[in-house]
Amino acid sequence: MLGKIKDTADFLKSKIKNRPEVAVILGSGLGGFGNKIENAVKVKYQDIPNFPVSTVEGHSGQLVFGKLAGKNVVAMQGRFHYYEGYDMKEVTFPIRVMHFLGVKKLIVSNAAGGLNPDFKQGDMMIITDHINNFPEHPLRGKNFSELGVRFPDMSKVYNAEYIKIAEKIANDNGISVQKGIYIGSSGPTLETPAEYRLFRIFGADATGMSTVPEVIVAHHQGMKIFGMSVITNVSEPSDPEGETTHEEVQDVAGDVEPKMTKIIEGLIERM
Ligand code: HPA
Repeated sequence: MLGKIKDTADFLKSKIKNRPEVAVILGSGLGGFGNKIENAVKVKYQDIPNFPVSTVEGHSGQLVFGKLAGKNVVAMQGRFHYYEGYDMKEVTFPIRVMHFLGVKKLIVSNAAGGLNPDFKQGDMMIITDHINNFPEHPLRGKNFSELGVRFPDMSKVYNAEYIKIAEKIANDNGISVQKGIYIGSSGPTLETPAEYRLFRIFGADATGMSTVPEVIVAHHQGMKIFGMSVITNVSEPSDPEGETTHEEVQDVAGDVEPKMTKIIEGLIERM
């Protein structure tokens, strides 16, 4: 595995002039953020050796390297979800590669369902902690000490300073943000009413199908992490007859994108 990761990193290094310091994973409906990157070098996933092969023909996504808020960044436009059939080593492969590109700081975003009764559709939530509810662990198997320790401490995964900075940026710009705990599960089904209630009892504020695997691997490698969710639907909707569709999730995330972008740009500047 290590050899493949390094080969892929070497391939990407040959494509770029400046090594990225910050990586941003763009969740559902938030892909437009990548267009803000200056002097962009775009590399399609399908052209990157050893990258997972997309399950969706022609829509595999891309890495966007360049400058944002004065920093060298790389954005993942599109991520690999466990529900698509990838195993956890594949889902987190890009994060491993980023380590060998020199990335030290990771920003993750996602679309999530709100569990906290105070949350409304269209809210943003800064992730303060997570619950790993996936059936497979990304660090299962032989540990490579070059990447990280066998038994990582998980008590301080989401960087407290970044959370403070993001809250200040939101406040200064009149943007309201929630804070809370994200629970990640395999999907692709959304939750039944009983499952939403269970996750609330667990102590989670939002639920989704991503982020946790990438964050675990990034933390294993010693990266500093900031995470943010767009609450695209809530577990107790005002219209109980309504259903949550993927289109709705993407629409709501798209509407929130400018506010999310503002916070992320400001944070990158101060990281
Ligand atoms: N559950 C799981 N994943 C999601 C949801 C949800 O309600 N909304 C957006 N992604």
